[in-house]
Amino acid sequence: GEFSLDLRLITNSTNEKLKGEGFAHNKLVVAEYQSAGRGRRGRQWVSPLASNLYWSLGWKTQLPVQQLGGLSLIVGLAIVKALNELNITGVELKWPNDIRYQGRKLGGILVELSGDMVGGLQVIIGVGLNVHMASNAAEAIEQEWINLQELEPTISRQQVLITVMQCLQSYLAHFSECGFESFLPEWQNYDECYNKKVAILQGEDVINGIGAGVDANGAFLLQTGKGIKPIYAGEVSLRFR
Ligand code: BTN
Repeated sequence: GEFSLDLRLITNSTNEKLKGEGFAHNKLVVAEYQSAGRGRRGRQWVSPLASNLYWSLGWKTQLPVQQLGGLSLIVGLAIVKALNELNITGVELKWPNDIRYQGRKLGGILVELSGDMVGGLQVIIGVGLNVHMASNAAEAIEQEWINLQELEPTISRQQVLITVMQCLQSYLAHFSECGFESFLPEWQNYDECYNKKVAILQGEDVINGIGAGVDANGAFLLQTGKGIKPIYAGEVSLRFR
């Protein structure tokens, strides 16, 4: 199919730029700066100028919405694969959307649905990766974080973007064909939560348990005293306009 590229110096959020009429399959929106970068759960994504990678890919799929639970996971796997190709190893994935290194956040994934059209759903795959965070932006970040350039000083944003896009194309094709199940062994290799004590927060509720991997739909498996409980990300919002 056709690819298109929309490069912006400034935008509110690359995910927003792809919504609605801006959407096209295989359209990649890249920005140098986001004035309203968003993370999951309504959080801000700190997006200073000329520091990091902020991009969103439009992806149209025939898969039913119930099968998209594993999508942000395979996007994470494609990013890990790309980083491995660039000699960055030791990166882990924290379900459902965090890319981490030794417990510090390297990047995040925000998958959203923009609506449906005849013959498919419109999915927006948004990714932010810390490459060389401007130091004056650092204090706004609430969690522990790290830059790719600390792991590989010679890395460039261009190199990372190209390599990630190449890996992502093949992972998306494979995901469309075979679903998430075929990625389970690969997920196990990078699953930061596996066998760790975790707490799942659902609204006011807290459920404690131990990470037991993910299931064939990409749901998190929490080992509790009462057996294994699947947890759904529940953050993929479906909007029709
Ligand atoms: C998270 O970890 O909470 C997800 C972060 C996703 C950030 C990216 S940056 C490009 C795209 N545009 C946004 O507004 N958010 C995503």
